[in-house]
Amino acid sequence: MHDILPEQISLWQTLEDRARVVLEGYGYQELRTPLLEVTELFARSIGEVTDIVEKEMYSFDDRNGESLSLRPEGTASCVRAAIEHGLFSSPRRLWYRGPMFRHERPQKGRYRQFHQIGVEVFGLEGPDIDQEVVLLTRRLWNAVGLRGLRLEINSLGEGEERAVYCRELTDYLQRDVQYLDEDSRRRLQTNPLRVLDSKNPDMQEVIAGAPRILDHLGKESREHFDRFCAGLDQAGIGYQVNPRLVRGLDYYNRTVFEWITDSLGAQGTVCAGGRYDTLVAQLGGPRTPAVGFALGLERLVAMLGAGQSLSLDGLDAYLVAVGEAPMAKALVVAEDLRNAVPGLRLLCHCGGGSFKSQFKKADRSGARYALVLGEGELERGIIGVKPLREAGEQLEVALEELPAFFTGKA
Ligand code: HAM
Repeated sequence: MHDILPEQISLWQTLEDRARVVLEGYGYQELRTPLLEVTELFARSIGEVTDIVEKEMYSFDDRNGESLSLRPEGTASCVRAAIEHGLFSSPRRLWYRGPMFRHERPQKGRYRQFHQIGVEVFGLEGPDIDQEVVLLTRRLWNAVGLRGLRLEINSLGEGEERAVYCRELTDYLQRDVQYLDEDSRRRLQTNPLRVLDSKNPDMQEVIAGAPRILDHLGKESREHFDRFCAGLDQAGIGYQVNPRLVRGLDYYNRTVFEWITDSLGAQGTVCAGGRYDTLVAQLGGPRTPAVGFALGLERLVAMLGAGQSLSLDGLDAYLVAVGEAPMAKALVVAEDLRNAVPGLRLLCHCGGGSFKSQFKKADRSGARYALVLGEGELERGIIGVKPLREAGEQLEVALEELPAFFTGKA
C-alpha cells in the first residue's frame, strides 16, 4: 500500500478531473459506496472459487461477529447499493472511483491498495451500450494523452452455453493433464475457464490448442457479439478477438474486454470489464442486464509517468516579494488576484529570502509565471511578470491590469 506524495498528486488530480469530465459528457452519475461490505456480498458476486475471494480479501469479524471485507472491486457494491435504493426503474449510468484492496503478491503495477475509476450501466441489454462504454474508454485515453493501448475482446456466452463449453474444455485439458501445473489442475475441477488465463510458458501449447468458447455461442450471443464488433468497426476502434480472454471474476457473460499495454510488463491490463446480465437478480434485485468496466489508476499513472505527454495543470503563478513593505502587501495582492480570477492557481511565497532564492523556488514550482513585487514595483503600482516556461522578457503590468492579463491567458 502506498502513499501518494505531493509530487505525484497533480498527475492523479489531472487524471481524475479529466475522467470526470468525460464521464459526465456521457451522462454518467457518480455513486459513492462504503469501503466495507459484508464478506458474503463479494463471495456471491465475484465467485467463491476465484483468486480474489479464495485468497485476496481483507476480511475480519466486526464487534457483532459479522464478517466484513474491504472491497476488492466496485461492481458488487454498486449492485448492492442499486438494489438497496431501488435504482432500476429506468436505465442508469453510474460511475465511481476510490481505493480497492486485494491481498495479492505485490509487484510493479500490482498493489494491495489500488485505485479504480469504474462505470456500471444497469438496464440496457443491447450491444450498443457495450459499444458506448468502449467508446467512452477511448475518449478517456485521448483526454489524458495515453497512447499504445490495444483492445482485446471476447464473448463468454450465456450460462448454459458456457456450461457445455466448460465440459468440453475440461475433457480436453484432462487429456493433457500432465502438462498442467498444480494450480491449473486444481482449477480444472473448480473453475476450468481460468486455466486459459495461465501465464505459465510450459502450458501455452496446451492452451493454444484448447476449444474456443466463441465456437460454442448460441444464436443470440453470437449475434450480440457480431453487432458489438460491427459497432467497433464503424467507430474506427481497432481490436483483437482473443478467445482466451476469460476475466478473473465469475459474474461475466457475453461481452468482455480489456485494454492492454506492453509497456508495464506482466501487469499490462489498464482497464477491464464486460457484461454481467445475471448478477443483479442473483443478488436479490430485479432481472436487470448490466455492463461496466474499471480502470486501474496506478497503471495509468505509471504509463503517463513513463514519458507519455500529459500536460499537467500546475501553478499559474508564483508571487515573489522582497522587502518589508512588498512582503506585507504580497498576501493582499494575491487575495485580490484570486478574487478577480476564479480558478487561478497562485502560490504566494512566504518566509522571506533573497530574490535569487525566491526565483529558484518559483522556477522549481513549475509555475508558468513569476510575479515580482519589490520596493520599486510597489511604489509605481505595478508588478513584474516573468514567463518561466517559455522565453520572454519580464513585463511590467499595472496591478489593476493583472486580472485581465491572466484571464487573457486562460
Ligand atoms: P479487474 O480486472 O479485477 O475488474 O480490475 C480492473 C482493473 O483494476 C485492472 O485492469 C487493473 O488495471 C486494476 N487492478 C486490479 N487489481 C489491481 C492491483 N492489485 N493493483 C493495481 N491495479 C489493479 C474489476 O475490478 C471489475 N469490477 C471491473 C468491472 C466493472 N466489470 C464490470 N464492471
